[in-house]
Amino acid sequence: MKWNSDLYTKKHAFVFNYGESLVELLAPEKEERILDLGCGTGELTQQISQLCKDVVGMDKSAEMVKKAKREFPEVEFLVGNAADFKFSEKFDAIFSNATLHWVTDYQSAVKCMYDNLLPAGRIVIEFGGKGNVQSIVNKLKEALQKRGYENEAKMNPWYFPSIGEYSTELEKIGFKVSYAEHYDRPTKLADKETGIKDWIMMFGKVFFADVSKDDIEEIAQEVQTDLQSKLFYDDNWFADYKRIRIIAKKE
Ligand code: BEZ
Repeated sequence: MKWNSDLYTKKHAFVFNYGESLVELLAPEKEERILDLGCGTGELTQQISQLCKDVVGMDKSAEMVKKAKREFPEVEFLVGNAADFKFSEKFDAIFSNATLHWVTDYQSAVKCMYDNLLPAGRIVIEFGGKGNVQSIVNKLKEALQKRGYENEAKMNPWYFPSIGEYSTELEKIGFKVSYAEHYDRPTKLADKETGIKDWIMMFGKVFFADVSKDDIEEIAQEVQTDLQSKLFYDDNWFADYKRIRIIAKKE
């Protein structure tokens, strides 16, 4: 999938703004080497780089990495896959914000994180949990189904586990989970007029590969209209985000 990295920073900056509290939870130490897995446009990688010896930002999207390198030339960024990566020099910690729900091959991602950590290394991760953006996805699927897009209506492009499910995967491979939280985080969208439509155009694109341009516009509008009573309040649009946050240590 191709990302529009400018639209991402302009209208969806909440992705890294919310991530700042995860950096606090990471609490980087001066001597540490840290991987930012799914670094996007690099804002959090840059923050982490101020606090530790060595940081690498990795993202699957070449567009995002290109923008990250342009904005933060002093930080190391590279293109790589969260479910298939290997560094010759291992890390003290792996940090990941708002990425792992894209990695449906989650067992490979868990193994890669484990293998690329030093002994006693830790992961500090946050991503979409069970029930994440459920109202938006349900309406989107309904609108696709109604127009005969049967395959698209059945798609499950994201992995939104409960903390029980994900902790079990981590424990199976040898992590010790010390902290796990599953919480609602209604997320204010940037545009008061087109908030849900913008969200769908940015993050729901994966459903639209074979959908006509006119239908995409109509579907996005319909979903937004249908969600007005549920997701428009306090004079703003909110996406019904649910997050999981986990800290675990390699034993
Ligand atoms: C999320 O951050 O929860 C998310 C982003 C894009 C698609 C689905 C979920």
